[in-house]
Amino acid sequence: MQQAVVRPPTHNSADADLAIDDLVRDDRVRADVYTDAHLFDLEMERVFNRAWIFMAHESQVPNAGDFVTSAIGRQPVIVVRDAKGAINVLYNRCPHRGAIVCRESEGNTHRFACPYHGWNFRIDGELSGIPFRSAYDDEFLQSEDLSLARVARVENYRGFVFACASHDGPSLVDYIGPLKDGIDNLLDRSPSGEVFVSAGVHRYRYKGNWKMQLENGLDEYHPPFSHASTVRPGGQQLQRAYAAKTGYKVLSDKDPNEADAKSHYDHGEVHGARYGQAYLTIPDATRRSELEVPEYRQGLIDRHGEQRALEIIENSNMSNAVFYPSLIVRVSGNMHIRVVRPISVGETEVLVWPMQVKGVPEQVNKGIVRYANVHVSVSSFVQTDDLEIFERVYEGLQARQPQWVMLARGVGREWDGPYPDEKVGYATWETGMRAQFRYWKQLMSENT
Ligand code: FES
Ligand SMILES: [Fe+2]
Repeated sequence: MQQAVVRPPTHNSADADLAIDDLVRDDRVRADVYTDAHLFDLEMERVFNRAWIFMAHESQVPNAGDFVTSAIGRQPVIVVRDAKGAINVLYNRCPHRGAIVCRESEGNTHRFACPYHGWNFRIDGELSGIPFRSAYDDEFLQSEDLSLARVARVENYRGFVFACASHDGPSLVDYIGPLKDGIDNLLDRSPSGEVFVSAGVHRYRYKGNWKMQLENGLDEYHPPFSHASTVRPGGQQLQRAYAAKTGYKVLSDKDPNEADAKSHYDHGEVHGARYGQAYLTIPDATRRSELEVPEYRQGLIDRHGEQRALEIIENSNMSNAVFYPSLIVRVSGNMHIRVVRPISVGETEVLVWPMQVKGVPEQVNKGIVRYANVHVSVSSFVQTDDLEIFERVYEGLQARQPQWVMLARGVGREWDGPYPDEKVGYATWETGMRAQFRYWKQLMSENT
C-alpha cells in the first residue's frame, strides 16, 4: 500500500506536504481535515466512492417508476424502482454528452429524457430512444453501451437502500455492523414491522465541513451548552413529546463544569466500531411516551408479547445510529433519517425525512413529525443551534494555530463492545469520532 500524499501544503502547514498518516492521531486530528480543499477532493474519491452510501428508504419509491435523486459524494445518481420491482441506482448522467437526465428530487416517470438532445431511457436505465438516429452507424449503436450506467453495488437492509461505487469491499451488513441492530429496533417499534417515509423533507445547507454533522450525531458533550436554551432546567423541550403527560428535566442540579462529575449525559454510552460506524445509547431518550398511547402499546404487545414489547421500548440500546459517512438515523422518539451530503469543503447539505410507523394511531405519527419539526428542521429549537455551531467551528478553524482539533475525551479508558473492533465509552466521550477517523485514515491512505 502506498502512502498517500496531499499536495499542496494545507493551510495550517507552512512547510512540507502532509501525509495522511500525519493528519490523524489517537487523540487529535489536524484542523486541515475540516478546511483543506485538496483533502476534500481526496475524500470524494477515497471515502465516498468506496463506502456504502445511503440512498433511500424503499417506501420513498413504492411503485414502478417512482424515483428519488441522490448523490454518492459528488456523483449524481437516480434511485428508481423498475417495472419488475427492483430498485436501481443509476448514474444521473446522459451517455451522449453528459447532462443529468433527471432534475427533480422525486417523482414518478415512465422514461428519463435528456433535456439536451432528447435521448431517453427506460426506468431500468436501458436506452429507449435516440432522436434522428440515422446519423449513427448501426454498428456503433450495437457495440456501445448507451444505457445509464449502474452503480457497482446496491444492497437493501430491511428497506434501507445503500449503494457503493466500488465493486470491492465488505457487504452492506458487514459494513454497518452494530448499526443493523438500530434498524432492527426501529422496525420492532412498529406493530406491523413496517416504517415509512411520507411526511416530506427538511433540506438545508450550512457553511461548514460535512464531518461536523456526522460527529455531532455522536456528541453528548455539547447539549448542556449548545442547547442551553432548550435543555437547561425549566426548559420545556422534552415535554413536547407526543402523548407526554409530564416533562423531565434533562440536566441534574450539578454544575456541568464540576471537574470530576460525570455529566448527566454520561448516563448513556457511545460506541465506535469498525468502518467508522458508531452509535449513542441514551436510556432516558429511548424510554419515551409510546406506551401511553393505549392502542400503540397493545399493538406492540400483540406483535411481540408483553415482556418483549416493554424491552423494545424501555431497554432499546440505540438512540442515534450514525452510518459512516452519510446517514444519521434517529431510532426512537422523533424517528427520522438524516442524510449528510458534502457540497464542498466548507458547505454541506442536510436532508431530514421523518420516519413514521405503520399500524399505529394517527396521533403517534403526527407526534413523530411534530417532534422532528421542533428538533431537526431548519426552524427548530435544537438543530439551529448545531448549524450555528458548525459555522462557528468552520470559521474558527481558519485560524492557523493551534494545528490540532482535540478528540481526547476518554481516550485509553474505553472498554470493548460486542462487535469487531468496537470500543465503548460514556456518552460524552469522543469515542465515536475517533472510530470515524480511524476509518477515514484507512480509506484515505489506500491509494488503489
Ligand atoms: S447530452 Fe443527453 S442527449 Fe445529448
Ligand atoms: Fe446538537
